Amino acid sequence: MSPYLVTRTLPVNSTDADLRTDVLQGLGRGPKSLPPKWFYDARGSELFEEITRLPEYYPTRAEREILRARARDVAAATQARTLVELGSGSSEKTRILLDALPGLHSYIPVDVSESALALAAEGLLAERPDLSVHALIADFTRGLALPGTPGPRLVAFLGGTLGNLLPEERAVFLKSVRSMLQPGDALLLGTDLVKDESTLVAAYDDTAGVTAAFNKNVLTVLNRELDADFDPDDFDHVAHWDPRQEWIEMRLRARSALTVKVRELDLAVTFAAGEELRTEVSAKFREAGVRSELAAAAMELGHWWTDSAGRFALSLSAPG
Ligand code: AVJ
Repeated sequence: MSPYLVTRTLPVNSTDADLRTDVLQGLGRGPKSLPPKWFYDARGSELFEEITRLPEYYPTRAEREILRARARDVAAATQARTLVELGSGSSEKTRILLDALPGLHSYIPVDVSESALALAAEGLLAERPDLSVHALIADFTRGLALPGTPGPRLVAFLGGTLGNLLPEERAVFLKSVRSMLQPGDALLLGTDLVKDESTLVAAYDDTAGVTAAFNKNVLTVLNRELDADFDPDDFDHVAHWDPRQEWIEMRLRARSALTVKVRELDLAVTFAAGEELRTEVSAKFREAGVRSELAAAAMELGHWWTDSAGRFALSLSAPG
């Protein structure tokens, strides 16, 4: 197997420090919230993979349909020689892109999870030993120094993960993506679309209870990492559609009044009966909104492709 390079731009203990800060800020006062990135320990990543196979969870299948239909168009429009993938996670969808990009020289997966990166890099190299793979352990929401690989560059941010950022975070993130692009480079962005409430709520509250388990897994992460004593059974999974913000909120609702200790932080967190902790926002988009958010970050939307049912969109944009 060909060797591949790994560069770490995250300090080794930054995850620890970030989790502490997020828990202190998010649980220290009301309304309670946690950033969704803490779902994804090994168990959480497994549960997410399970979610993508649920009948109710359409985004993964819809995005895969678009990629299959449009990968050649992406290749023709970009002639990419370097593919940068933000939040690469599992590389299954990436392969559809890679297979359509014969002129590709370098693949740069970027993720906070070193184990996810290793899996992605090794699997790909087995199939494409010609490819130069340079994995980056980095938090892509914080601006990236990319290795000097040949252009044009295609930066891919798939899965609808943009929707997990709050509007102000999205604006900052898109500007940081823009700073990675030179003339001739492009951004391929996956966004879930606004649709009827029942379809959306079902996608985040499946009958098999996998999303509920995924949501509650964050409590297990806090128990392990910060020596907290959450009992996941004390909470109900809630998926709420906010029609004004046009986003789904996942929440955990306390079944009764209770107090949780977070020993590592010397923190006691009290919940009133019925009090909710927001664990994720998953924004749904419209074409005009995506176009204007990109424009605000000095990018110009060039192509807008949806699946046949119009549930999800891939857009291809250029520095404007
Ligand atoms: C694919 C990470 C964007 O918001 O739909 C799935 C995560 N949360 N079910 C999404 C998720 C609940 C997901 N992302």
